[in-house]
Amino acid sequence: MKIQTAVFKQSNTDYKKCPAPTMPEYAFIGRSNVGKSSLINMITGKPTLAKTSQTPGKTQLINHFSINDQWYLVDLPGYGYAKASQKEREKWDKMIKEYLKNRTNLHCIFVLIDSRHSAQKIDMEFMQWLGENELPFAIIFTKTDKQSKTRTQALLNEYATKMLDYWEEMPVSFSTSSLTKTGKDEILKFIDELNQD
Ligand code: GTP
Ligand code: MG
Repeated sequence: MKIQTAVFKQSNTDYKKCPAPTMPEYAFIGRSNVGKSSLINMITGKPTLAKTSQTPGKTQLINHFSINDQWYLVDLPGYGYAKASQKEREKWDKMIKEYLKNRTNLHCIFVLIDSRHSAQKIDMEFMQWLGENELPFAIIFTKTDKQSKTRTQALLNEYATKMLDYWEEMPVSFSTSSLTKTGKDEILKFIDELNQD
């Protein structure tokens, strides 16, 4: 699939105010700083579409981008930022989980995981929550340019083994780098197929 247009639509705190759910939607979620906004920019080929930062906690709202006037990409605030207060965590929980549970046009939630780290409890628990709520998701391993292919593969194998403690099979997964554009074609193909459903 070729991206013809990628346009920012709205930022919201309340899922009820998001654009009418008339097109298939794909949301990017994961720990703060894992590379959600960078990946949206890489996939759309628009380096400044979503705001990125070296400092965790950059994305604070539910951001809708309309792609080819046919589907939505959604950039979400990350979880697990160590410096966030209890109140901020609760706010995140309410805003994001309400959005994920009630957004009827969500075709897939992409859970981003830093390819350099072994399985983290917070990600496992989040995917568990998605499963309990019967929400479809796929995993995207990010920042693969930061280490050798051999190291990435070893960590991915370890991750897949760990996932089998919780799941009957490893969910669909992708390896990406926003720097080298690794994974772009695979993710767009996956979205294209889901758009046909
Ligand atoms: P929050 O909005 O704060 O939750 O973060 P985010 O998940 O949107 O991360 P963001 O895209 O803002 O990226 C965080 C940092 O990681 C930035 O400094 C990016 O340049 C860097 N980064 C993101 N993706 C990659 C990647 O694939 N490779 C490398 N080397 N750096 C990356
Ligand atoms: Mg962000």
